Amino acid sequence: MGAAIVGGAMARLRKGARIWGHPQAREIGERMMLQSDPNLFAIDPPAIFGRRAPIEIEIGAGKGEFIIERAAEFPERDFIAVELSGTIARVLAVRCGRAGIDNLRVARMDARTLVNLMLETSSVSAFHIYFPDPWPKERHVKHRLFTPTLAANIYRTLEPGAIAYVATDVRDYASEIFPLMDAAGLIRAAEAAPGAERTGFARKYVAAGKPIFAASFRKPR
Ligand SMILES: C[S@@+](CC[C@H](N)C(=O)[O-])C[C@H]1O[C@@H](n2cnc3c(N)ncnc32)[C@H](O)[C@@H]1O
Repeated sequence: MGAAIVGGAMARLRKGARIWGHPQAREIGERMMLQSDPNLFAIDPPAIFGRRAPIEIEIGAGKGEFIIERAAEFPERDFIAVELSGTIARVLAVRCGRAGIDNLRVARMDARTLVNLMLETSSVSAFHIYFPDPWPKERHVKHRLFTPTLAANIYRTLEPGAIAYVATDVRDYASEIFPLMDAAGLIRAAEAAPGAERTGFARKYVAAGKPIFAASFRKPR
């Protein structure tokens, strides 16, 4: 089983490397990627998209199954897909480029840096956070996405009335991270998380009949 998982990850890495080695795909992907700049301390969506529009952010977007569909569905909004893994971010960028949509860009970075430091206060219309790695072992605690600091900065950066959507397949993780969002001052919202059954991971879990734990958190007006 373990060997199968490692084998699958290796195949994905090889696929990512292959795609980026193809000049045409690479050119398409590079156009979708926000360029990393050591002096970049802020993200300015109007400068990126050339217009002022509501901005939605997916954290840990994987290969973009959800965000590409969502961006196509809402052309009047702009979207940033944040992905830490360089290999996955490249596959994601090529897929975004091939989808031919102009309201989506890929940021290859640690979402904690983006949310905690680079986004303006009250500037985000929605966060989508689906199936973040739970990193259950204590020695991996530094990799965990959800902390009180992240929750406080999700609160800070959301526009009043805007929502952060969260889903996980791990019951214990849900019971840890949902209260963190409550404690940050966010209020549980009745709206269903639009990606909870539509991301790449979600589709596999739904097909396998596994439970998904989802919640939506609104910043008070
Ligand atoms: C389990 S996958 C889920 C991918 C996608 N959301 C889905 O549901 O199909 C988690 C993703 O989050 C990314 N990730 C983990 N920590 C991150 C971080 N701090 N910033 C940005 N992306 C992160 C991983 O590289 C991985 O692609």
